[in-house]
Amino acid sequence: MIKVDLSGASAFFTAAGPDYAAAQRAHETLKAGSGLGNDFIGWLELPKRIRDGELDRIVKAAEKIRARSQALVVIGIGGSYLGARGAIELLRPIPGENDPQVFFVGNGLSADYLCDVLARLGDKDFDVNVISKSGTTLEPAVSFRIFRELLEKKYGKDADEHIFATTDARRGALKGLADARGWESFVVPDDVGGRFSVLSAVGLLPMAVAGIDVCTVIDAAIEEMEALADESENNPAWQYAAARQNLYNKGYGVEILGCYEPSFRFMAEWWKQLYGESEGKDLKGIFPASVEYTADLHSMGQFIQEGQRCLMESVVRFTQARSAYEVPFDEANGDGLNYIAGRDLNEVCRIAADAVKEAHISGGVPNIVIECPARDEKGFAALVCFFEVACALSGYMSGVNPFNQPGVEAYKKNMFRMLGKPGAV
Ligand code: PA5
Repeated sequence: MIKVDLSGASAFFTAAGPDYAAAQRAHETLKAGSGLGNDFIGWLELPKRIRDGELDRIVKAAEKIRARSQALVVIGIGGSYLGARGAIELLRPIPGENDPQVFFVGNGLSADYLCDVLARLGDKDFDVNVISKSGTTLEPAVSFRIFRELLEKKYGKDADEHIFATTDARRGALKGLADARGWESFVVPDDVGGRFSVLSAVGLLPMAVAGIDVCTVIDAAIEEMEALADESENNPAWQYAAARQNLYNKGYGVEILGCYEPSFRFMAEWWKQLYGESEGKDLKGIFPASVEYTADLHSMGQFIQEGQRCLMESVVRFTQARSAYEVPFDEANGDGLNYIAGRDLNEVCRIAADAVKEAHISGGVPNIVIECPARDEKGFAALVCFFEVACALSGYMSGVNPFNQPGVEAYKKNMFRMLGKPGAV
């Protein structure tokens, strides 16, 4: 279970402190399914539904891909991409000897990026997992057309065997193609929006191919969702949601999410979409940004310490490290580092994090610590469930519909008109 430490934020709260009564109302609304966007709250039950539904087939498909291919090309964007990438980079940042390499495409329109991936893919045997709930998103659709052609050239009539489609159960161009070609398909449930879909086949199939134990992820997520149903001030999701809403109302309009593990980078990207798309509407919202520590202390540290005072900082810390490494002793001590010789790098990092926290608080940046037990399958599940529940509560507390994203259509309309799509105006 995630622990939230608000000690570094308390001095910045309003006199009344975090509004737990509002968090409770938001939670009751979410549980009763009586709030805005209530037709998109299937993610609350998703871990259970997946365990009793597609999980076995996901694991079998992943085994098949792992046995025959050296690479998996995952095609998707936004909610159909960031969760899987976040999980894989967090848990398997370097592929094991028997793990296929996972390439992510369809998350942009850069020809250079595509060609780089193609060069790295070379003549490896590969499978494709195309992920699109709507089945009509331009970026993944273009990439899919390209990779289908490659599969056809490489595998001829067996190309269809190498395609796994994750899409809507009934609608969309991708669903139509999948049915017509007989591709193995997985479902993005109707009542789960893209950014809440990582614990469906959207995230789980690429994760399983990368060697992540998705059954453990799902078992842990089931337990976590049960724990997060607690209606009390001890619920970490209440604490986080109520704290950030309190700070927002005091004028802290930007939240930076930091972590001392570089492998967290894409989890932060996933978090940015989750919170940005859920809360940034009706002229409201906390702008979610991310920093990688300690690297960004040498680039963004100045702004965080002394720039415009609009920042709140949330820092994910893993209690247990995966490895340890002692700073070596050097007789000559030319670099003057012997004062930390013999100390584990984890200890040095922990002390650096404490020093940063103290400095940022004294510089006027409220600090929230989000403590995750370990960088493993259970820790990943705990983070996902915690952030999702807190996001829904925080959105309801600020009075928005956390489950829609009407604003993302504006650029698409212009783009389709400019590209000359038939019927676009
Ligand atoms: O959260 C969302 O709804 C979006 O980020 C979508 O996931 C993204 O636009 C991709 O859409 P689709 O899965 O329909 O291709």
